[in-house]
Amino acid sequence: MPAKILNLFKKAQRGRWAIGQFNFSNLETLKAIVQAAEKLKSPTIVGTSEGESKFVGLEQAAALVKSYREKTKLPIILNLDHGRSFDYIKKAIDAGYDAVHFDGSGLSLEKNIQETKKVVNYARKHGVLVEGEAGVIGDVGKQKGVLTEPKDALRFVKETKVDSLAVAIGNLHGIEASGINPKLNLKRLKEIKEKIGNIPLVLHGGSGTPEADIKKAIKSGIVKININTELRMAYTNTLKKSFQEKPTEIVSYKYMPLVVEAVQKIVEEKIRLFGSQNKA
Ligand code: 13P
Repeated sequence: MPAKILNLFKKAQRGRWAIGQFNFSNLETLKAIVQAAEKLKSPTIVGTSEGESKFVGLEQAAALVKSYREKTKLPIILNLDHGRSFDYIKKAIDAGYDAVHFDGSGLSLEKNIQETKKVVNYARKHGVLVEGEAGVIGDVGKQKGVLTEPKDALRFVKETKVDSLAVAIGNLHGIEASGINPKLNLKRLKEIKEKIGNIPLVLHGGSGTPEADIKKAIKSGIVKININTELRMAYTNTLKKSFQEKPTEIVSYKYMPLVVEAVQKIVEEKIRLFGSQNKA
């Protein structure tokens, strides 16, 4: 699997497009993502944070994705997003995840390198891809970001031998009240890319990022873009609306199709924006 994923990243790098990672914590969202990928013939990464995976169940997430992969014959990759400890990442790998992201951004660079190495060591033995993180990605209303230093990024990838790297370039998890997040620091992205070469780069916090910035980021070396908040908003707002419109409806398979449709629409828009349609 990692060779297959790395090949996809290489293809994306050469063709200047990116693969979306879409997060899910329930069947309806996963179904919406898969339907969008199927319609547009796109390779797709589906992600669960620790919290999301605890809700779905690690084994259950792996089984659902395997089942969709077999049915659609599409490259659908399951990634643990923001794994914060080696122990939890190990559980995800043992449950059948194809890829893991170790988020050591709360640690010093030394400690982040040390822990990431442990993850890489275990993941390699199980054929699982590892995404590392250098710098601190901001979180709207919670955490200020710290830009990735190109020299730290170089040291990090050299010492850990991660397969891909998540960068902090002004990207934020969540969406600002204005609905649009501040501009990305594309100059910093270029500096990181120049320093570390061809390691696939990952952009977290894709929701609310201006389309023009996304396009420029892809041109400057981003090959994976994570989207969560926009899907959560589409899901929750549509569900609320449908309860308002039909307050007596209690059959979930009757009110859920609208929710799936709303999430699918966002995923389709992102696939088109990232340029991954017809690349499966
Ligand atoms: P958003 O919620 O801002 O789309 O970010 C998702 C993400 O980066 C998951 O790792």
